[in-house]
Amino acid sequence: MQLEKQVHKPMHGTAKARGCAHARLGNFCKMFPKLPSWAKECGVTEQCVAEAVARAIGGVGGLMHDVRNESGDSGIPAGYTFFAQFVDHDITLDTTSPLHGKVDDDKIAHLPNLRSASLDLDCVYGLGPEAQPYMYDGAQPGRMHVGSSVGGVDNHDDVPRNASGRAMIGDPRNDENLFISQLQAMFLKFHNRRLVTSNFEKAQADTRYHYQWVVLYDFLKRVCHPDIYAFALPLIEGNAKGKKNVKKYPFCDILDHCKRICMPVEFSVAAFRFGHTMVRSTYPANGQYPLIELFDERFGTLGFGPVPPQLNVDWRLLLDMEDCHPYAKSKAIDHLLADELNRLPDPVVGRNTSTDDRALAFRNILRGHALGLASGQKVAAELKAKGYPINPKQNLEFDKIENWSCLTKDLPCDIAKCTPLFFYLMREAAVIGKGETLGPVGSALLLETFGTMYVYCSTFLKEKDWAPDPCVAGNGSMTLADMARYARG
Ligand code: HEM
Repeated sequence: MQLEKQVHKPMHGTAKARGCAHARLGNFCKMFPKLPSWAKECGVTEQCVAEAVARAIGGVGGLMHDVRNESGDSGIPAGYTFFAQFVDHDITLDTTSPLHGKVDDDKIAHLPNLRSASLDLDCVYGLGPEAQPYMYDGAQPGRMHVGSSVGGVDNHDDVPRNASGRAMIGDPRNDENLFISQLQAMFLKFHNRRLVTSNFEKAQADTRYHYQWVVLYDFLKRVCHPDIYAFALPLIEGNAKGKKNVKKYPFCDILDHCKRICMPVEFSVAAFRFGHTMVRSTYPANGQYPLIELFDERFGTLGFGPVPPQLNVDWRLLLDMEDCHPYAKSKAIDHLLADELNRLPDPVVGRNTSTDDRALAFRNILRGHALGLASGQKVAAELKAKGYPINPKQNLEFDKIENWSCLTKDLPCDIAKCTPLFFYLMREAAVIGKGETLGPVGSALLLETFGTMYVYCSTFLKEKDWAPDPCVAGNGSMTLADMARYARG
């Protein structure tokens, strides 16, 4: 009964403004504060019209709902979907902005971000062993707890949990579904292996560096458009290493007056939500359970609860870990979201949640409206003006989307020329990225934001000649599969 009560509290995203506005590790901000919001540009002044547009695009049966399961696979192994979510939970958490409302422009820079906007793995380490000792094994200094024992069921491969099943981890959202929870456990194990013959601080730094390497050279390379990645990577490396004669990068300034990175809402509310389109409705867990639903009622895995031992994830089925071992791919990066994300379960969004608010694309579009995001076209033009090789007039073939004409009927603007940012970026991925990568505009938003982290924060790029341990990486350039293999032992 206690467990039942606890798991029905929403832990990921809020519908109403709530939470602790005083606790923060930084703030949100706008990358392009001078651009008009999409609503202003389109002439949408009333909340009910904005909600109707969000419903028509992102709601159940809307343009972004993959009702017939038609969106294909990308070439990206399915494990990267949860890695993307894991990275999101390392750098951004907004618990205070209202979904059905508006945040004035001058208030956005005061919105608290409850994660540090740097790749420091605070979602794993929390605030460290002194501040959050219950995540650490007091008997073995520096070791992180792994494994749960809830209701008489032991699972050594689960994340640590209290008696009622609540995960005791750095970010509660890393227990939102079975796969992100198992990825969290993988990082705990990775850290613990690095601790052998070391100490906490060294193992932590070393784990962070391996992770930052994978984000820069493996993950971003896979999900970003190749032209934009090739354009930005040498600028990131050169600026992070303080090389002379390299063009200054990033092009946008997202540092606050304390020189802390603020989290741009163009990234957190639109571009980095691209991972929502990579999510499939079903996944393999292991050889015994090769097909389970993301939220599977049969096993009670609806989020924020213990992982049944029989569902412990075999990452060989979701990552390119072994030659000749088939693995699932992520869904194509496009404008369609899997049916599973159109009816989010109670533990994720709360018990008394409307049908609209259970559709993730609806939330993304409406949250973008609440935070006054500009249209995709305006953002594209701005990025080009900053120096990115981008065509702001790219044809995204909106008229080829089924039921497109139903959306355009009663609007005061031409929505094909003035498109809500999240929808624009996902359509761009479908048409220009061909479902394999983000398009140029989405990629530039990612690389600007991550680039800022690599240039201004402590990362492996600042350490002279740091390279992944060959025991982790093998002979090639390290990938997420190498980290998973190493963590498995
Ligand atoms: C696997 C299933 C996933 C579920 C059920 C899920 C669910 C959610 C929900 C409910 C929100 C809050 C929405 C709002 O009210 O505005 C959210 C936010 C977000 N999601 Fe996901 N998500 C998933 C996967 C991903 C992935 C793969 C990514 C990767 C890139 C991602 C990136 C984000 C980001 C950046 C935010 C904003 C976080 C913040 O600033 O608070 N999510 N997600």
